Amino acid sequence: MVSTSREPARIAAMFDSIARRYDTLNHLLSAGLDRRWRARAVRELAFTGTEVVLDMCTGTADLAVEAVTASSGQARDVIGVDFAGEMLRLGLAKVRKAGLTDRVHFVRGDATRIPLPDGHFDAAMVAFGIRNVIDSSAAIREFARVLKPGGRLAVLEFGFPRIPGVKAAYRWYFKSLLPRVGRLISKHGDAYSYLPASVEQFPSPEAFAGLLTRNGFASVRTVSLTFGIVYLYVATKIPGD
Ligand SMILES: C[S@@+](CC[C@H](N)C(=O)[O-])C[C@H]1O[C@@H](n2cnc3c(N)ncnc32)[C@H](O)[C@@H]1O
Repeated sequence: MVSTSREPARIAAMFDSIARRYDTLNHLLSAGLDRRWRARAVRELAFTGTEVVLDMCTGTADLAVEAVTASSGQARDVIGVDFAGEMLRLGLAKVRKAGLTDRVHFVRGDATRIPLPDGHFDAAMVAFGIRNVIDSSAAIREFARVLKPGGRLAVLEFGFPRIPGVKAAYRWYFKSLLPRVGRLISKHGDAYSYLPASVEQFPSPEAFAGLLTRNGFASVRTVSLTFGIVYLYVATKIPGD
């Protein structure tokens, strides 16, 4: 049985040890759909070129880069925060290579104690990170704290399709095939078994939307992407909260 402990040191060490293979596996295991899911999240935030944006759990910075390069509208600056040093190092290398160091910055830190001031951001985003956080309500309260009143939040996280035929086929892929391919390529014993196990423990879309409304956000919209393999949650910080 794979451990689903979300103890921060364990999670950071796991991502650090798969960091070098992380992007390749993301694109391979999602057949390139991960890029589209991030692009959709950025499109929902409808940037106008003026926004300062938090990318929490930035990892290798794919969402941060998308936010400052998207054809649908770009943020002015992104600060990517993560606690895994090796993921951040590769994110920084990517940003340097793309010539974006003046627009994407990095800070090492934990989602439950974001080391940035109150009301600093126009928008916040987190892609495939929140399910790893030991206390997701605390992280959501932190997103609300660092956002300006009326600031918008976009969360991407895995879910499970609900359409009967698709559900069975996807479960087989996600729980049987993906862990094997992930183990083979990442050489990590259980990171890609932890992935489906952690998604199973994550709240349902309805329950997660409820967590957002109980922790400082309103106007929560839940969008199912690719049959519900991924959900996008968009919400607005309650003014005056
Ligand atoms: C699956 S990766 C997602 C990376 C990136 N957002 C993407 O879309 O590819 C999850 C990232 O969240 C980070 N993470 C998980 N829990 C965290 C926490 N409590 N605080 C900071 N970073 C965290 C991990 O270190 C890892 O880099």
